[in-house]
Amino acid sequence: MSVDVAIVGLGYVGLPLAQEASRVGLKVLGFDIGQRVVDGLNAGQSHVDDLTDEHIAEMQAAGFEATTDSSRLAEAKTIVICVPTPLSDDGGPDLGPVVSAVNTIRDNLKPGMLVILESTTYPGTTDEVVRPILEETGLVAGKDFHLAFSPERIDPGNEKFGAKNTPKVVGGQTPESGDAAAAFYGQFVDTVVRAKGTREAETAKLLENTYRHINIALVNEMARFCHDLGIDLWDVIEAAKTKPFGFQAFYPGPGVGGHCIPIDPNYLSHNVRARLGYPFRFVELAQEINAGMPGYVVSRAQDLLNEDGKALRGSTILLLGVTYKPNIADQRESPAVPLAKQLTDKGATVQFHDPHVTQWRALGDRVSRADDLEAAVAAADLVILLQNHRDYEVDALADKSQRFFDTRGVVTDGEKVSRL
Ligand SMILES: NC(=O)c1ccc[n+]([C@@H]2O[C@H](COP(=O)([O-])OP(=O)(O)OC[C@H]3O[C@@H](n4cnc5c(N)ncnc54)[C@H](O)[C@@H]3O)[C@@H](O)[C@H]2O)c1
Repeated sequence: MSVDVAIVGLGYVGLPLAQEASRVGLKVLGFDIGQRVVDGLNAGQSHVDDLTDEHIAEMQAAGFEATTDSSRLAEAKTIVICVPTPLSDDGGPDLGPVVSAVNTIRDNLKPGMLVILESTTYPGTTDEVVRPILEETGLVAGKDFHLAFSPERIDPGNEKFGAKNTPKVVGGQTPESGDAAAAFYGQFVDTVVRAKGTREAETAKLLENTYRHINIALVNEMARFCHDLGIDLWDVIEAAKTKPFGFQAFYPGPGVGGHCIPIDPNYLSHNVRARLGYPFRFVELAQEINAGMPGYVVSRAQDLLNEDGKALRGSTILLLGVTYKPNIADQRESPAVPLAKQLTDKGATVQFHDPHVTQWRALGDRVSRADDLEAAVAAADLVILLQNHRDYEVDALADKSQRFFDTRGVVTDGEKVSRL
C-alpha cells in the first residue's frame, strides 16, 4: 500500500483534509468523479475558497495527486469519504453520493484498511448503510478492516479555526476501529475526541448544526417582534453576550444558507420521523422561521419604499452580497436567491453586487450585476445589505444611498438606514 490516505470527494471538506495530511508528510491521493475538479487540481488550480493555487503546489510537492481512476483506491492504507449529502426532492436524506462512493471503495477494499466516513449524515448510516456494502466483500468490519465515522467541522472562510486546530470527533465501529481512526487523525489534528461509537459521532455533528439552526431561528423570530416593539435587537445581543457563562451570541439575518445549516438538521428530523413516527419539533419550527426570513425582508423592503411613496413594482433594488456567508464565494443555499426571486416576482428591478460573484447563475437574467458599486448604490431606490463582506465600506455606502436596509446590524445610525 503505497498511499497513506485516499480522500474520496475533493470539495470544501476533502481538499483541506488532503492539505493537512500532506503537510505532515503523508502520501495523499485524491479521488473524485468530477473530471474537471481532478484536471484542475493536477494543473495546480484550487476550486475552493480556503485553498490557494500555492497551497495546491505545496501539496503536489509533498506527493499529492488527484485521480478519477477508482482502482487506485486499492493502494491506500486509509480511505476517507468526503462526498456531498444533499436532500432528495421530498426533503429527506439523499445518500446517493455516499452509497456510490462506498460501492467504489468496496471494489477496492483490502484487509487491514481503515475506512472513515466524514460526510454529515443521520445516525446509523455508518453501521447500516456503509458497513453492509463493504462487508459484501466477505471482509468483516472491526476484524478484517477498520470502519469509523468522524464528522467534518470545516468552516469555510474561518481564519482562526481550520482542520488542524479544530478538535476532531471520532467514533469507531469497534473500539479498535476507533483507536485506528484516532491514531490516523492524531498525525495532523491537534485534538482528537473519542465518541462511544459511530452513532454518537454522527449525532454529535447533527446536534452542533441543529443547535446553530435553532438559535439563529430564535433571534430571527425575535427580530420581527423587536422591530414592531421598537427595540434594537443588535443592542440586546451585545448586552446579553457580556454574560460570561450560559449564553452564546447568535445574530439575525435574511435567512440561513450554506451546505450545512439549512440541510443537516433535516437529516435528523427526517430520520426521527421515519424511525419513530414523531416529529423533532424544534427543527421543524426553526426550519419554518428561518425559511420565512427572505419573505420577511421583502415585506420590510416594501414598507421602506412605501415611506418614500414608492411601490415595490418598478423600483430598483440593489442587493449587496449574495453568498451565504461573508468573504467567501460559496453561494450554496443562499437566502439571497429566494429573496431576489420574490422581489422580481413582485415587479421590482433587482441588481446585485458581490465582490466574490461575477455571475449569479441561480437567478439567470432575472437580475443584473452592478459593476460600478457606488453608482448603483446612489441610483437604487433601495439598497439591501445581505452579506457584510469585508470589502464593503458599509457606512459610506449607506451614506450614498437613497434608502439603506441593513439585514446584518452593521450600520450604527443614519436617517436613511433601517436595520432588520
Ligand atoms: N462545506 C462545508 O462547510 C461542510 C462543513 C461540514 C461538513 N460538511 C459535509 O461534508 C460533506 C462534503 O461536503 P463538501 O462541502 O466538501 O461538498 P463539495 O460539493 O464541495 O465536494 C464534494 C466532492 O465530492 C465529489 N463526489 C461526489 N460524489 C462522489 C463519488 N461518488 N465519488 C467521488 N467523489 C464524489 C464531487 O465531485 C465534489 O467534488 C457533506 O456531507 C457536507 O454536509 C460540509
